[in-house]
Amino acid sequence: MEKALELDGEYPESLRDEFNIPTFNSMGLSSDDKPVTYLCGNSLGLMPKSTRDSINAELDAWSNCAVESHFKHPEEAKGKAPWVNIDLPILPLLAPIVGAHENEVAVMNSLTANLNSLLITFYKPTEKRFKILFEKGSFPSDYYAFYNQCKIHGISEPENVFIQIEPRAGETYIRTQDILDTIEVNQDELALVCLSGVQYYTGQYFDIGRITSFAHQFPGILVGWDLAHAVGNVPLQLHDWGVDFACWCSYKYLNAGPGGIGGLFVHSKHTKSDPTKEALPRLAGWWGNDATKRFQMLEVFEPIPGALGFRQSNPSVIDTVALRSSLELFAKFNGIGEVRKRSLLLTNYMKELLEASKYYKHPLRMGKLPCFFTILTPTGTDEEHGAQLSLYFDSDIGKEDIMPNVFQYLHDHGVIGDARRPNVIRLAPAPLYNTFSDVYTAVNALNEAMDKL
Ligand SMILES: Cc1ncc(COP(=O)(O)O)c(C=O)c1O
Repeated sequence: MEKALELDGEYPESLRDEFNIPTFNSMGLSSDDKPVTYLCGNSLGLMPKSTRDSINAELDAWSNCAVESHFKHPEEAKGKAPWVNIDLPILPLLAPIVGAHENEVAVMNSLTANLNSLLITFYKPTEKRFKILFEKGSFPSDYYAFYNQCKIHGISEPENVFIQIEPRAGETYIRTQDILDTIEVNQDELALVCLSGVQYYTGQYFDIGRITSFAHQFPGILVGWDLAHAVGNVPLQLHDWGVDFACWCSYKYLNAGPGGIGGLFVHSKHTKSDPTKEALPRLAGWWGNDATKRFQMLEVFEPIPGALGFRQSNPSVIDTVALRSSLELFAKFNGIGEVRKRSLLLTNYMKELLEASKYYKHPLRMGKLPCFFTILTPTGTDEEHGAQLSLYFDSDIGKEDIMPNVFQYLHDHGVIGDARRPNVIRLAPAPLYNTFSDVYTAVNALNEAMDKL
């Protein structure tokens, strides 16, 4: 613990005090009011203290001025946006986090709805070019979206148009070169490459820039990304990388609350206004229409040039201000670059402690162990992972239930991670609120749990 405390002294800067950290008492673990060790920001980020006031301000506006708050917010003097423009102050906060121009991002819907919406625009299978490349073991929602988009296009057996890439036998993550080779081999038939920025299960951070530009060598291939586990976790350069489209949720590293409002990116190359061309067909609604004409109720759809033109409905005000509260903290921390620096320090410290555990099975360590864990996440270089490390639990002598027992012990001792049955626990120190002491406490509890097996 000494070294962890030293590191906390050396790198004191976090915004921990700006977050509500659950306690043993609040989580029903004991009557102790000390904070738990929350390493689950990859699943649900903690609540910024400012969120409650932001939401209350909107409840007050609703309560006091009702419909008129759409055009004039009662707290406009305090920087609150009228509800018709509630999402607009978010764009300058969000664009730098994903490396986009402000007109390339929109705050809307939720992740899967946005993915479906983007696929409607960007997946245009033809007789020659119809295949979709994504990961075997991608988040199932993405699989369902791809599958049903194919069905919408009349493809009776979508599996036949899927190319699902996976790690080589005996390996835990996908080699970039294997992705590039697969693109090259399928260059004439691929319509879409759509991977996740950071893989939810393994924690692998894909080389988004390299994969995108490689695929773009072959005209006709579009590249989209599911950034659920990447946004707010690693710095992104979506515009400069030439990514065609991307979508994300905001309840993980962006701390916008459960089921929070999602986001999307559409590269400006696809939305530049060109009077000679029709705007891209899309799932449309009045909120994507020219804002100056929106309330004229005309039967003419003239989409706002840029990502805002992909919005369909007026956004949930409460969800939107919750996101704004959290993004203001990213700005207060001097942006995603600084967040990432602290993130690497925390995660690399966690890796060091895990690798020093007597239960860590190094690929070269010989001998049978009654119980052990390995790290699935690639950690050879910083560029291969984000905050999360995924731990795989097993036994050389056929012992079962190792992961559930370890997970239960961690939980009972106030270490909150998340389990992916049957064998994996994911731990993710979130740089805005986690400390080196949190990391130490978690790994120490993990070792204790395994001592008890
Ligand atoms: C990688 C990934 N994709 C998609 C989803 C689905 O998100 P939503 O329920 O917001 O559509 C999740 C949810 O955790 C996810 O982790």
